[in-house]
Amino acid sequence: MHPSRRPLIAGNWKMNTTLADAHILADGVRQELEHEEKVDVVLCPPSIWLGFLAERLGPGKVAHVSLGAQNCHPEMKGAYTGELSTEMIKEVADYVIIGHSERVQYFHEKPDFLLHKIEAAFRAGLTPILCIGEVEQVAGSTKKLVQELNHIVRSLTHAQLEQLVVAYEPVWAIGTGNVATPEYAQEVISLLRTVLTEKTRILYGGSSNDENARGLLAMPDIDGFLVGGASLKLKSFVTMVKIADQLA
Ligand code: 13P
Repeated sequence: MHPSRRPLIAGNWKMNTTLADAHILADGVRQELEHEEKVDVVLCPPSIWLGFLAERLGPGKVAHVSLGAQNCHPEMKGAYTGELSTEMIKEVADYVIIGHSERVQYFHEKPDFLLHKIEAAFRAGLTPILCIGEVEQVAGSTKKLVQELNHIVRSLTHAQLEQLVVAYEPVWAIGTGNVATPEYAQEVISLLRTVLTEKTRILYGGSSNDENARGLLAMPDIDGFLVGGASLKLKSFVTMVKIADQLA
C-alpha cells in the first residue's frame, strides 16, 4: 500500500449466496466494519440481490461500504435479453467489475468489448473494476499482460485512468489456493502501473485471504484485494479489511 492511495477491498461473491445469505453477509460487513473508515469496502453480490442490499448499503447509504455489480452491458438499453445496463446498475450500486477472467473464459469477452463497458460505466457514473491476469506463468507473460492492459485502456482520458480500479488476478491463482507471492504480485503490478497513473488503485486477486493479506498489502503498489472465496466468509473478509485499515 502507498499512503497516497486509499485502500479498496472488494468481495466478488460470484454465483453464490441465497438471498438470506446475502443479507447476513452484508449486515455483518456493515456492523463489523463500521469504524474501518480508511478502507473502501465494495460488496459485489449476484446482481439479483443488489436491489435488496441497496436499501441498506446502496448509493449514499454507508460512506465507506458500497455495492458493485459483477458485470454490465455496454449499451444503455435495447434488445439484449438477460443483460443489465450501467444506467440500471447505477440505481443500486457504485462499482462494476469488468472483464473478470471467468467472463473472458466462458463468455469469450474481447478487449474492445471491455473498453466499451468501461466507457459505459463512466458515462453512468460508476467506478469500473477492470480485471486482468495471465493464464499461465510463462516467459513473456507479464510483458504481454502490460500490452493487453494498454490496448484496453488506450483511449481513456488521464482523469478516467485515475478513477479506474484495476484488479490484477493471475488466472492460475484464482480459486486454487496458490496465491502469488507478494514479491511476484508487486513486480507485475508495478509494471501494470506504467500504463496507468500513480493515482490508479490496483488490487490483487487470486486466493487472497486473512492469512496472506498482510504480506501482500506490505507491497507499495498493492492497494487492496478483489476477494473471491474468502469474501463469502464474514470473519475472513472482515479481518482482511481490518488489516488494511491498520496499515493505512
Ligand atoms: P478467489 O479469491 O476465490 O481465488 O477468487 C478470486 C477472484 O476471482 C475474485 O474476482
